[in-house]
Amino acid sequence: MSAKESIHGSWSSGWAFMLAATGSAVGLGNIWKFPYITGQNGGAAFVMVYLLCVLLIGIPVMIAEITLGRRGRQSPMNTMYTLAIESGHSPLWKYLGFMGVFAGFIILSYYSVIAGWAVYYMILSSMSEFTGITAAGANAKFGNFTQDPVYLLFFHTIFMLMTMYVVSLGVRSGLEKATKFMMPALFVILLILDGYAMNTNSFDKGVGFLFQPDFSKLTWSVVLTAMGHAFFTLSLGMGAIMVYGSYMPKRASIAKASFVIAIADVLVALLAGIAIFPVVFANGLEPSSGPGLLFITLPLAFGHMPWGALFGTLFFILVTFAAWTSSISLLEPAVTWLVENHRFKRIKATFVAGLIIWVLGIFTVFSFNKWAFKFTLIGKTYENGFFNIFDILTANIMLPLGGMLIAIFAGWYMSQQASRDELEVKEWMYMTWRFLVRYISPFAILIVFLNVIGVIKL
Ligand code: PFF
Repeated sequence: MSAKESIHGSWSSGWAFMLAATGSAVGLGNIWKFPYITGQNGGAAFVMVYLLCVLLIGIPVMIAEITLGRRGRQSPMNTMYTLAIESGHSPLWKYLGFMGVFAGFIILSYYSVIAGWAVYYMILSSMSEFTGITAAGANAKFGNFTQDPVYLLFFHTIFMLMTMYVVSLGVRSGLEKATKFMMPALFVILLILDGYAMNTNSFDKGVGFLFQPDFSKLTWSVVLTAMGHAFFTLSLGMGAIMVYGSYMPKRASIAKASFVIAIADVLVALLAGIAIFPVVFANGLEPSSGPGLLFITLPLAFGHMPWGALFGTLFFILVTFAAWTSSISLLEPAVTWLVENHRFKRIKATFVAGLIIWVLGIFTVFSFNKWAFKFTLIGKTYENGFFNIFDILTANIMLPLGGMLIAIFAGWYMSQQASRDELEVKEWMYMTWRFLVRYISPFAILIVFLNVIGVIKL
């Protein structure tokens, strides 16, 4: 079975898989979402829980998800179906793949709107619009932009078309080259921004906010958000990494790739946080201000540093690229499924799925203006209506649930021989991974869920 190739093709090497999967993992989740949810959830204690979740749940589930993908070699739905049958279990496991496709649709619908903001900010920066800007000015610029649904819809449309274009060609063409150049460039520009942050008078405060935990700020809902973010940022729990794994050559190491991807992903998030929080405090902004945080703070940095317009433009180009390589992986599971089960041509499958997602995106477009209703859930108030509902439903519920089922399947249902055969690691490593996916990851996720809904009280 594992010698089989996916009908959608394969990566040219293990290295190509690693680049593509890193491209999927590193995206808006790291640069835009991590800082703003860290700000909303009180800082360092949240960051510590997130890091712990990456280590104890994220990496083992990533190894499991890639293993399933490479063994099944099909869309997540058919992979789950085939593997369940192969190991003598219920075909109902295929619905795990289905939930993933659904989660991917919802995530991409709002992801694309936010990526559109980055495209717009790239244009603003290239026109030197941030030069000498004040905190009030940056706030007003962001406010005026997001108040206008027509603008938001326009940039959402552009970004969806970009995503659909690459997916319709087949994810391999171009993706490798784009990521190879983008990732190092992103590191460099984040380091430049960190250098700027170091020269503000609030560097210590910003870094302390990220790394000096005050555990009294932890509630179960904060823990759930941190855990959900570990899944979101590593692209886990919905089949994106599974489908990329299905194109992975047999000889490449799954465990090694998973560690490299997770480390790169965490580094980008931390570098972004270090760039943003000192600027937040130096300008008297609110760390908990929400989804606009990146778009309000970084213009202040670019507006006051030498070569700011150039660096700003480059930065937003790179954010757009990072979002692009992630959005492609959000669309891919649905497209592979339509091609396999409904005999669609790739281009038609992409068009149909893309159109549905584009329409769903309209809910997010209006979440920042006409339909910006507030709601309260488990003690927290959310301001941006459907956008927050979509985000909570996917990142905090569907992805951890998907991840839990993936861990359970890999740990309890797949034969030891099959997972050993795919992983080919030293015995102690295999046993550690197996222990984590059998016992630790699923139970940790379950305990967090049960505490949040109040069934148990720890
Ligand atoms: N990991 C991406 C990010 O951090 O921006 C978002 C994402 C991509 C989530 C693919 C889920 C996914 F399946």
